[in-house]
Amino acid sequence: LREAGSALGLQATVARHFVGDRLRPAEAGSVDDLAPGTGALIRVGGAKAAVYRDPAGTVHALSARCTHLGCLVHFNEVETAWECPCHGSRFDIDGAVVQGPATKPLEPRDLDVPSGAEDGTDGEPGEPEYLDEPGPGP
Ligand code: FES
Repeated sequence: LREAGSALGLQATVARHFVGDRLRPAEAGSVDDLAPGTGALIRVGGAKAAVYRDPAGTVHALSARCTHLGCLVHFNEVETAWECPCHGSRFDIDGAVVQGPATKPLEPRDLDVPSGAEDGTDGEPGEPEYLDEPGPGP
């Protein structure tokens, strides 16, 4: 019975990632496309960045990959926060964890990476690491 429960938990985790990575977060072509008070994913070099322009015009750029298991975060304009659709982690505009299961902040991103340059990440998950982990469960 325990093995069946573990298998179901793994299937639920895989299903959340399957759905979560297919929900389309808002994307913008460049930082110049962002109005004050909005956030979107922007491709920088070979990876996506989670970029927010605050009402004063200051740009806050972070890694778009959730630090829990790597899903793409989405911007919530009502909460002014980055949220992960896979397991519900939430991060503030500077990347600090507001709600888990993630425990590490989103990393700051440099937006000055030339187009097409490699930054050490490809922006897309490789082999899905979560397949070896049952995740937080239902
Ligand atoms: Fe983001 Fe799990 S991958 S909360």
